[in-house]
Amino acid sequence: MTKRVAILISGGGSNMVSLVEDMAGDHPARPVIVLSNRADAGGLEKAKARGIPTAVVDHRPFGSDRPAFEAALNHVLDQARPDIICLAGFMRVLTEGFVTRWQGKMLNIHPSLLPKYKGLHTHQRAIEAGDTEAGCSVHEVTAELDGGQVLGQVRVPIDPDDTADSLAAKVLVQEHMLYPLILRRFASGDRSRIDLP
Ligand code: GAR
Repeated sequence: MTKRVAILISGGGSNMVSLVEDMAGDHPARPVIVLSNRADAGGLEKAKARGIPTAVVDHRPFGSDRPAFEAALNHVLDQARPDIICLAGFMRVLTEGFVTRWQGKMLNIHPSLLPKYKGLHTHQRAIEAGDTEAGCSVHEVTAELDGGQVLGQVRVPIDPDDTADSLAAKVLVQEHMLYPLILRRFASGDRSRIDLP
């Protein structure tokens, strides 16, 4: 049966677009909603333009009450009935309660070679550490931030003149290849890991 996919975004949504565009033809999943915590997320218009329902749950009125924010997210998700949730540049830390509710069904893309550089500013940290390669990871979401099982990675060489921005742009191109590949496999029940050079 075709899997229903919810995609959570906070920004431009380029990864969301790459997932959506792959979910056609014989793909085992289809997008059912794009949900943002920011009303001004550029990805919302891109989703609408592709005929995908969108919703916004602004985190700000909830202040530090993350469970209340997540209850509002769950209210939207319960109506969309996703089989899989893809975090795609969703920049809110999720509590154990939310993650446990969707455990085994939630994926994230992170712009580093996990377990290196969990959290923010991944490219700057890789450059400052003198690393010769960076990359991106798709992983299952668990209660530990950026700590779930890695399902796939792509490595990207760091050139001597790279800045955080130039490296981010190179890695993003690979994110757009990796995330659809992993989602396609995950939706068909394949959780084996892939490492690309
Ligand atoms: C991507 O680079 C993604 O890996 C990163 O945010 C960007 C979103 O771009 N995610 C994280 O840093 C999560 N911790 P997009 O909105 O164009 O897909």
